[in-house]
Amino acid sequence: MDRVGGMVRAIVVREVPSDSRPSRVATLEDVSESFLGDGGTVVDVAFSGINYKDALALTGRPGVVRQTPLVAGIDLVGTVVTSDDGRFAPGDWIVLNGAGQSENRHGGLATRAHIDAALAIPLPRAITPARAAALGTAGYTAALAVSRLVHEGVSPDDGPVLVTGATGGVGSIATMLLARAGFEVAALTGRADQFRDYLTRLGATSLVDRSELSSYGKPLQSARWAGVVDAVGGAVLANALAQTRPGGVVAACGLAGSADLPTTVMPFILRGVTLAGIDSVWAQPGARTRAWDLLSRDLDLDVLDSLTETVPLEGAIAAAERLLDGQSHGRILVAINPDA
Ligand SMILES: NC(=O)c1ccc[n+]([C@@H]2O[C@H](COP(=O)([O-])OP(=O)(O)OC[C@H]3O[C@@H](n4cnc5c(N)ncnc54)[C@H](OP(=O)(O)O)[C@@H]3O)[C@@H](O)[C@H]2O)c1
Repeated sequence: MDRVGGMVRAIVVREVPSDSRPSRVATLEDVSESFLGDGGTVVDVAFSGINYKDALALTGRPGVVRQTPLVAGIDLVGTVVTSDDGRFAPGDWIVLNGAGQSENRHGGLATRAHIDAALAIPLPRAITPARAAALGTAGYTAALAVSRLVHEGVSPDDGPVLVTGATGGVGSIATMLLARAGFEVAALTGRADQFRDYLTRLGATSLVDRSELSSYGKPLQSARWAGVVDAVGGAVLANALAQTRPGGVVAACGLAGSADLPTTVMPFILRGVTLAGIDSVWAQPGARTRAWDLLSRDLDLDVLDSLTETVPLEGAIAAAERLLDGQSHGRILVAINPDA
């Protein structure tokens, strides 16, 4: 589609009448291109993906979509049709992760998008469009978290690093990046029996059963981890903090378990632990480019392919349901116009 003003196939989240409280439903629709608003860069979307946040939005759950109706999809990879941003010319490949997509801006689960390109980056040279979308927000967030640990001074000589939610998107890519950088990686998972081989192939040197960290524990525990990449939150994050070695760093990325943080000040004031927050949505272009450079440099792309499931746009909602039901692992790529 190279003309501006046609019809667009999109997954739209709408408010629907309900007896109790407002409820939301996502459906695949054909909308007029004017529905997409007036973002200054028009993109023909080739690929998007299903992250945890997409799964929430596509199943009508709260916490992501802040206004309706809204096109879902926090990621897009596509080609520029027109752009008011001097960095992009027609035909260029472009990547946009987060930046309010599927929150208060129309997102990437559509054949076309009108975006504000300020936080978009050119497709990294070493990565194909499909792989960039397979990495998506999850991969780029994992890279932000690993970069943060390294920036804060954590090195492989300091001891093992714990990755929580290890079979998920953020956890899988973080495990791969850390292993490639020479870290000893302990992968915390609720599915050790099913995914031992998978996590070992990504580079995990040991597995920790999620149940070991999922009940509230002592404020200070045996110091095990030089660093932590946490995608889970709640008691798992609190226990991970309590098990972090003096001077260690914990990168908090997610809330797949809980948004709570039932901790004390003890790890911070008695062990000098740093709790580092990771925000991929509004990270600035420099941080984005550095994260994508790390992914381009340090990732085994064949392993990435092996952990990627591909679905068409028509299959995105069902894939989201599977992700929230704990039936998927790795990454889900949505092929919208793979031949673009
Ligand atoms: N800060 C940011 O900018 C940013 C960016 C991306 C993602 N996130 C957040 O990071 C989290 C992970 O995202 P994702 O895309 O990687 O999701 P995902 O692919 O669904 O992975 C989440 C993993 O967490 C574990 N998990 C699921 N439910 C759990 C529960 N109730 N208690 C404990 N562990 C549970 C599972 O791993 P196991 O089966 O191996 O235990 C699951 O594979 C989400 O909360 C997401 O919103 C934040």
